[in-house]
Amino acid sequence: MERRWMSVWLLAAILLGAVAVGGGLPLSTSGRWVVDDSRGGGRVKLACVNWPAHLEPVVAEGLSRRPVDEIAKAIRGMGFNCVRLTWPTFLPTGDASLAGLTVRGSFRRLRLNSTGVQRHNPKLIDLPLLQAFQAVVSSLEENDVMVILDNHLSRPGWCCSRTDGNGFFGDTYFDPGLWVEGLRRMAALFRSHRNVVGMSLRNELRGARQNVDDWFRYMQMGAEAVHAANADVLVILSGLNFDSELSFLSRRPLNVSFSRKIVFELHWYSFTNSAAWAGENANDACGSISGGVSHRVGFLLDRGFPLFLSEFGIDQSGRNWRDNRFFSCALAYAADHDLEWAMWALQGSYYLRQGVADSEEAYGMLSADWRSVRNRTLLGRIQSIQQPFRGPGVATLPPYKTILHPLTGRCVTIDSSSRGLALAAGPCAQRWRYGDDGTLSLANSSACVTAVGAGKPARVGNCGGSGGGSSAAAAASRWVLASASHMHVSTRVNGDDRMLCLDVGPDGRSVVTNPCRCMGGDARCDPEGQWFRMVTTARRVG
Ligand SMILES: *[C@@H]1O[C@H](CO)[C@@H](O)[C@H](O)[C@H]1NC(C)=O
Ligand SMILES: *[C@@H]1O[C@H](CO)[C@@H](O)[C@H](O)[C@H]1NC(C)=O
Ligand SMILES: *[C@@H]1O[C@H](CO)[C@@H](O)[C@H](O)[C@H]1NC(C)=O
Repeated sequence: MERRWMSVWLLAAILLGAVAVGGGLPLSTSGRWVVDDSRGGGRVKLACVNWPAHLEPVVAEGLSRRPVDEIAKAIRGMGFNCVRLTWPTFLPTGDASLAGLTVRGSFRRLRLNSTGVQRHNPKLIDLPLLQAFQAVVSSLEENDVMVILDNHLSRPGWCCSRTDGNGFFGDTYFDPGLWVEGLRRMAALFRSHRNVVGMSLRNELRGARQNVDDWFRYMQMGAEAVHAANADVLVILSGLNFDSELSFLSRRPLNVSFSRKIVFELHWYSFTNSAAWAGENANDACGSISGGVSHRVGFLLDRGFPLFLSEFGIDQSGRNWRDNRFFSCALAYAADHDLEWAMWALQGSYYLRQGVADSEEAYGMLSADWRSVRNRTLLGRIQSIQQPFRGPGVATLPPYKTILHPLTGRCVTIDSSSRGLALAAGPCAQRWRYGDDGTLSLANSSACVTAVGAGKPARVGNCGGSGGGSSAAAAASRWVLASASHMHVSTRVNGDDRMLCLDVGPDGRSVVTNPCRCMGGDARCDPEGQWFRMVTTARRVG
């Protein structure tokens, strides 16, 4: 009976890609996957959100707005299973300016009004900063949210610039010995918190001092220190150039004394490549930038390491068109490679950022008052990559394609309410087969997708060509993944010279074929609506 219960629970946990913090941890790696050995080695996909506690107050943001438990529940409610919780080195190393400070004292020191913290988190306000930080981790634990502790910088404050003294080993505030000591203390301190599943050694290495030799020297040292203090946690290593560059690992492998715990991380924003997003055709930009990401970091998946896209995000108002294009492109990449990831960011606002109190965060998942979701459309898009597509315990069916529309987070499915079968945008539950001959068919039957003309819904029917009762039955279309982004699913129909591409119709629901847009050249043209990514998956649906 007991056993039977366990296996049902195991199956449920694997299907949901979720982990109940109480039983399943710690995590390890198996090739490029993060897995849970205690539950049969099934994959755990990290679908995280960043929650900063590294700014001047050194208090997890938002505690002046809502009780910590409500914030933890909101994180879970948005579907995230994990938080990348940031901390500055000076928090555990007891820097003189922070030693003995309570939350109240820290606010007073910065002339911040602590009335909100008093009101919403009275149990935390008189705790020393490190204990308040622990209380946040405990609240996340109670709400089944995993935590990755991220050493964000040394001296508390906004991050990151090349010249802020926190960029690389040897910079003004970045003493390697103190850093190792800070990592050691945090690893030891959180050994008793089962939900702390990983530690990222240092955020966004950068600046004039950065070099590969010191990267190996100190990152290996930091990794060994963390592992010695807590052998359970994943050890997460970032690259050079603001965490965008790890290509040097293709020539010289990491040398650490332990295995099955190393994960690499990557940050990716529109401003990582602002010139390309601003000046190039969006397909060309997406194609070349994605290629660069694969070359500099993505290759590590093929070397058998998990890859954690630990920061990406946009201005959620939708008003920054470079951000918008970037995000569809990056979302498609994250889906295609089935990455672990962490959205930047949770916070709707900061206590204090760059000298401004109550500063709003346009990238925040929550509104400025922390009470609601900032942009539900964006949340829906992010939710499309929260569940794993592949990996141990996930792959229970023969591989098939799901066709993701990154702009909406919906997938190509079948609308059976119309007369005959037509394509529609809907839940990511339809299994497709994309044949070597270019046909697009249902994985579990022999029905093919056929374009019938510009502006018309693509039809689903007989693959053979001489369809039963219909005199006009056309041969099944041959589809090509066109443009430099390979995200235009294109074909031709008789009597029309133009290339037609899958597109979401004006009703926002039907999937139609329209003349392909912005295939190259024009930088102003916006192809996002016609971007679809065929993602290989084997997960159970329905
Ligand atoms: C602090 O904020 C509260 C409202 O949250 C307000 O009533 C109070 O006057 C403020 N105190 C100061 C000193 O500004
Ligand atoms: C790896 O590190 C160990 C311990 O520092 C050292 O003995 C060994 O020679 C190193 N291996 C390589 C290939 O550098
Ligand atoms: C949410 O984002 C979309 C673009 O993705 C934008 O059109 C919309 O206005 C945004 N909504 C809000 C409330 O900011």
